[in-house]
Amino acid sequence: MTSDSINKHKNLFPTSTGSNDNLLLLLNRTSEIICKWFSDADKLGPIPIESNFECSVPEEYGKSVDVLFSEIESLIYSSFNPVHVGSLAHLDPPPLIISILGDLVAAGLNNNLLAHELSPSVSLLEESICKWFSRILGFTDLAGGVAASGGTLSNLNALVAARNHAGLETDPKAVYLISEDAHSSFIKCTRIMGLEKNNLIKVKTDKDGCMDIIELKKTIDKCSNEGKRIFAIVATLGTTVRGAIDPIENICNICNEKKIWLHIDGSIGGIFSITNLPINGINNVNLANSITINPQKILGITKTSSLLIVSNIEILKNTFSTGLPYVSTENNFLNRGELGVQGSRPAEIIKLWLGLRFLGMHGIEDVLNSSIEKRIFFENNLDTEKYDLYTGPLHIISFLPKGMNKNESDLWTLNKRLNLMKENFMISRPLFKNRYYLRAVFGNYNTSESHIKDLLKLLN
Ligand SMILES: Cc1ncc(COP(=O)(O)O)c(C=O)c1O
Repeated sequence: MTSDSINKHKNLFPTSTGSNDNLLLLLNRTSEIICKWFSDADKLGPIPIESNFECSVPEEYGKSVDVLFSEIESLIYSSFNPVHVGSLAHLDPPPLIISILGDLVAAGLNNNLLAHELSPSVSLLEESICKWFSRILGFTDLAGGVAASGGTLSNLNALVAARNHAGLETDPKAVYLISEDAHSSFIKCTRIMGLEKNNLIKVKTDKDGCMDIIELKKTIDKCSNEGKRIFAIVATLGTTVRGAIDPIENICNICNEKKIWLHIDGSIGGIFSITNLPINGINNVNLANSITINPQKILGITKTSSLLIVSNIEILKNTFSTGLPYVSTENNFLNRGELGVQGSRPAEIIKLWLGLRFLGMHGIEDVLNSSIEKRIFFENNLDTEKYDLYTGPLHIISFLPKGMNKNESDLWTLNKRLNLMKENFMISRPLFKNRYYLRAVFGNYNTSESHIKDLLKLLN
């Protein structure tokens, strides 16, 4: 059978000659299902209690769209629903409406950020949004950045660039420092960079979960005595379990003195630094060599959306550029696949661009500020005779009942999370320093004070 006869009844691709009315119908139908699912969230809860989703696999002949629509519906109705008011577990907020459209536009364009000729307008857009971030963060004109699919990759891009810049690419004595509360993905970065576990050095945190500066100085001295060569210090702007912010200014002074690259993992808190919100510890980010900003985690830009901003864009070029022998070099445009570890990349910048334009600076501040206000409301009303609280200046709070030993609290957190889930509140149970906690992340714009009161009633 020829492909002609197999496919003659289907429009496989958008047509370049006739009408695309059929595609339009399919898009409308899909939009209706998704919007209905959003509206059904209240009935469904944050995650389905029982999933009836059956994973199908490709068969000899393709299926009709009607079959696929019923599968799509089943998939959707078996999914985690971030728009539900009780979705407070993770850094996965509801999707900003305009950002959903941005994903659709990116899929329709199917442009590739690997090369300028495959994404002429989007490449310029990415460059210009990165420049905008650089300026608003206070970097000089030398700065710029690149998007990547998630915070892990942006951090990896930074670390590879830092090591390259230090000339330590192949040195087994090359090490980098993070706080003990930094994100677990740095373990992955270490492996990818071909380093051993002990090339990643963890600095102790203080009682507030921030990197301890005295410990940092001691660690640097110890490294130097052992002949280790530090190519980067990572300050976390918003730790995963409690939203703590490492003392950026102090770390920066040390980095300047020792000529060490300062990277800020702002996957959680970096976006707050483009606002005027008065948040303790968010200052001087422009003194860093690089910063990760990951607006998928709180602003609602649909996943994935992450930027690495570097104080000198030439360093990214020097680190990653290999030349693209199969891409035209007739013009002098920069191919943005030459700025990081990813080659082909989708046009993720579109949804960030639209999200920022749609919200404006006031809207951005409103979304971010409301998340902090909700955390404060929760913190002020959680019974502190009953619980120990672990939080910082952002929108994340972890807690544990007082006076329980490890086994008791491990069991309590397990049961409490399940009980809360039955009441349609989904919070998380992070394992942190060998103990389970409960954690609420107040990045859900739909959650109101009265919902938080309901959650508190179940806890107090
Ligand atoms: C502080 C921090 N850094 C990095 C990451 C990794 O980000 P991603 O999951 O987008 O790769 C996370 C994830 O939650 C995080 O909390």
